[in-house]
Amino acid sequence: MLKIQHLSKHYGTAKGKSTALNSISFSLGEGRSLAIVGESGAGKSTLAKCILGVVPPSSGHVWFDGRKVDTMTPSEQKQFWQEAQMIWQDPGLALSPHRRIWQMIAEPLENYKRLNRQEIHRQVDRLLSQVGLDPALGQCYRHQLSGGQCQRVCIARALAPSPRLLVCDEPVSALDLPMQLKIMDLIDNLRQHLGIAVILITHDIGLARRYCSQVAIMHKGCIIETGPSDTILHHSTHPYTKRLINAIPRLPWL
Ligand SMILES: Nc1ncnc2c1ncn2[C@@H]1O[C@H](COP(=O)(O)OP(=O)(O)O)[C@@H](O)[C@H]1O
Ligand SMILES: [Mg+2]
Repeated sequence: MLKIQHLSKHYGTAKGKSTALNSISFSLGEGRSLAIVGESGAGKSTLAKCILGVVPPSSGHVWFDGRKVDTMTPSEQKQFWQEAQMIWQDPGLALSPHRRIWQMIAEPLENYKRLNRQEIHRQVDRLLSQVGLDPALGQCYRHQLSGGQCQRVCIARALAPSPRLLVCDEPVSALDLPMQLKIMDLIDNLRQHLGIAVILITHDIGLARRYCSQVAIMHKGCIIETGPSDTILHHSTHPYTKRLINAIPRLPWL
C-alpha cells in the first residue's frame, strides 16, 4: 500500500543545509503496523509530513497504491488525504477553540462524503461512540475536554473519511501513562477491526514493541535498523538501539 524509496529532505538554514532525512526506504502493507522510533531531532516528523505530501521531499519518492504522492494533482491529493490521515502530538492544538466538537468531526464528512444533514449528525454520533466518547460531548468546546478526550476527538475526525492509513506522530506523548495505554489500545483496536494500517511515530521503544509488529529505528535522518519488534528489542546489537532501550525506565509492558 505504501512504499517509500530513497526519501531525503534537506532544509536550508542560516547555518547552511541541514539534512532531516537521508535516503529512507521502507514499505507498509494494508492493515499492518510499523513503529518509527528515534530521539527528538531524528527526522520523524519530517518523515510523517513527507509521507502525507505536506512537505515536498528533496529527492526520492512516496508511493501510495502505486501513485506517486509528491506529483499528485490537487484532485488526486484530495483523494489521497481521504485515505491517509494524520494524528498529531498535541490534541489540544489540533482542535479549534472556537468550534463545537461535532462541527470539527462533521467537516471531513461534508468534504469527502455526500451526506445530508441528518446523516451527518448520525455519523458524528457514531464516530464519537466508536472512539469511546459519549455523543453528548459533541456539543462541547475543546477547553471543556481532557487531553485524552481531545485525542479521542482527533481520532474520530481522522476516521471520518474512512482512511486506510493513519500516521500517528507521537500521539500519546502529551498524555499521562494510563491514558497513553488507553489511547494506544483504541488505535490498535481500530487497526484490527477496521483494517487501517498504522504508522506509530514515537521516542518510546516500549510502546513500539507493544503495539507494532515491525519497528524501524531512526537516527540522524537515517533508518539504522528495521525488523520485527521483538527481534529488535531483544536481540539488537546496534549501540544506538541499545541506548534507546536502556534510556527508558522499566515499564510494565517491557
Ligand atoms: N521547517 C524546518 N526548517 C529547518 N529545519 C527543520 C524544519 N523542520 C525540522 N527541521 C530540522 O530537521 C531535523 C529533524 O526534525 P524533526 O523531523 O522535527 O525530528 P523529530 O520529529 O524526530 O524530532 C531537526 O534537526 C530539525 O531542527
Ligand atoms: Mg517530531
